[in-house]
Amino acid sequence: KSPIYILAIESSCDDTAAAVLKDSKVLSNVVARQEIHEEYGGVVPELASRAHQQNIVPVVDVALKKAGIDKNDLSGIAFTQGPGLMGSLLVGSSFAKSLAMSLQVPLMAVHHMHAHVLAHFIDEEGYDKPEFPFLAMTISGGHTQIIKVNSFFDMEIIGETTDDAVGEAFDKTAKILGLPYPGGPLIDKYAKEGNPKVYQFTKPKVDGLNFSFSGLKTQILYFIQKNVKENPNFIEENKADICASIQNIIIQILMDKIKMAVEETGINQIAIGGGVSANSGIRITLKEAESKYGWKTFVPKFEYTTDNAAMIGIVGYHKYLENKFEDSSVVSKARIEF
Ligand code: KG4
Ligand code: ZN
Repeated sequence: KSPIYILAIESSCDDTAAAVLKDSKVLSNVVARQEIHEEYGGVVPELASRAHQQNIVPVVDVALKKAGIDKNDLSGIAFTQGPGLMGSLLVGSSFAKSLAMSLQVPLMAVHHMHAHVLAHFIDEEGYDKPEFPFLAMTISGGHTQIIKVNSFFDMEIIGETTDDAVGEAFDKTAKILGLPYPGGPLIDKYAKEGNPKVYQFTKPKVDGLNFSFSGLKTQILYFIQKNVKENPNFIEENKADICASIQNIIIQILMDKIKMAVEETGINQIAIGGGVSANSGIRITLKEAESKYGWKTFVPKFEYTTDNAAMIGIVGYHKYLENKFEDSSVVSKARIEF
């Protein structure tokens, strides 16, 4: 039966999202952001699941309306199985299961991190799709991984963080600077007006393709504390340069490891995904690497970088094509094997 219409639901963390795809094309992509967490400086799981509970029906409703299709036209339902916050995941999976059951359509369980990788397969004008095998770097609030992607459902992690995720490095240093959560986008914004060479930080020494960011965070904390002691207005007066310098060291750490991964695998197609791939400095640096190193790089459209349901939908679509369906006994998993 063609075309195939997939409704996708993502509720792994603090955003309630629904999308409708017609084959590989996105007809609607709706995200309800939960602002409630800002005042706590991080995601509060109990509040997140409660907000998902309130948002899920209206968000799905809007996604279907925007797509201009009736729920009876749906070919299948895809949802995020994990990893994520259990209470949040349960809202999305319960809803997806019930709807698939009532519509009597197939149900597809999607790994959130696979979705960040495969978001590049959404049909989008001006965006090329990678060819297998390629390297993917998923950089988000919960993950920092380098992945060798052999095919849609055959991928292996060849490097990952040993402590904090890169998004946490952004968010935690932003907190040190007194910026609200999530701080990544704000560091990005201030960095645009600053000079990245003003303050020097040292790169952590980590073997192979793995990462570590907790030492950098401590280094930045001591640096700020020392300077604020000498000048209480240090942060205010130098915000742009501080942010630019922090962003610069993070980009260097990421680029070093990508270069190493290219050398080790001989693969020079690199795709990035996850919330941190929205970072303008990373996007520019990666594009520059195309002419510098002869790589082909793939940067997702902005709306597919941070958590969204369209990326869940594209994985759901490919699972649908391969008959990778679940029955109603499928369970959410806070931790889930790659
Ligand atoms: O993928 P995502 O939406 O959620 C997770 O699965 O974690 O990623 C969220 C992370 C947060 O740490 C946020 O600060 C970061 O992505 N982020 C950014 C930018 N936009 C979002 N970090 C740096 N620069 C940005 N422009
Ligand atoms: Zn994510």
